[in-house]
Amino acid sequence: MSGGTLPSGLPPVSLGTWQMWGRAASRSVREALDLGYRCVDTATGYRNEQAVGAGIRASDIERDDLLIVTKFPEEDAGREHETLSRSLDLLGVEYVDLWLMHGPLDAEGSLAVWRRFVEAREAGLVRAIGVSNFRPSQVDDLVARSGVVPAVNQVAFGPWYFDPALAPHHAALGIVVQGHSPFSENDLEHPVLRTTAERHGRSVHQVLLRWHLEHGVPTVAKAVSPAHLAANLTVNDFSLTPAEVTAIDHIADGARAGAVS
Ligand SMILES: NC(=O)c1ccc[n+]([C@@H]2O[C@H](COP(=O)([O-])OP(=O)(O)OC[C@H]3O[C@@H](n4cnc5c(N)ncnc54)[C@H](OP(=O)(O)O)[C@@H]3O)[C@@H](O)[C@H]2O)c1
Repeated sequence: MSGGTLPSGLPPVSLGTWQMWGRAASRSVREALDLGYRCVDTATGYRNEQAVGAGIRASDIERDDLLIVTKFPEEDAGREHETLSRSLDLLGVEYVDLWLMHGPLDAEGSLAVWRRFVEAREAGLVRAIGVSNFRPSQVDDLVARSGVVPAVNQVAFGPWYFDPALAPHHAALGIVVQGHSPFSENDLEHPVLRTTAERHGRSVHQVLLRWHLEHGVPTVAKAVSPAHLAANLTVNDFSLTPAEVTAIDHIADGARAGAVS
């Protein structure tokens, strides 16, 4: 069984809202929607669902044209129903498009939460269910125990973390990998990124978003600046060569080799 499908799939770039609060968050969400963003990513743990909901209502976007993603804090295991009800109330919506388990627990713990997720989907409170920060082995375990495949696994996918086996593993199961923290978790000064950006007349940020897309991975990127918001939407009008993609794949090899496992 699948964890559901998103009506139009995830767009190449969704709006991240971590560490945005209050009126500033509402304003950024509304500006992003006005610019063309159609997927907004929040979480119970971000403590901004009310502000995100206000930003959505301030825009002219029809609910059906928008994907709203929120996340359940795994430490709230046992309180899934109350937590989701509160997310819906704060966001001011009747359903969310994608509800993610923010992080894994041990196998039994993840399974117990996942069963409540399946119930929420069956009740129509969420359109699709997924996970976040799960390793492939944890995904395999959840699927084997529950028989329900997550629609999405939202992970830090950037070059610093790049695991060439992850996207093919998830694709074989029909799971969409969505990358989070494309900028904050990467070395923006790395010479390979800088020279690639110069070659294309783009910013390092745009190259990173494009690199995710070359791997078939949509991203969640946060920006407050309207210029950054707009720049991050313009990543479909250029492409990286296979050699450029491979060079970026390997920029953290030295650091990884030196890391303590
Ligand atoms: N599932 C999870 O566990 C998890 C974990 C972390 C994050 N996330 C999600 O992923 C989202 C993104 O991650 P993040 O918040 O860590 O930040 P990020 O998107 O990696 O980086 C945001 C920073 O990059 C800057 N920026 C954005 N676009 C830029 C551009 N084109 N040029 C120059 N600078 C640019 C922003 O500046 P300005 O704000 O000044 O524009 C901000 O300082 C989060 O907001 C959240 O929704 C999920």
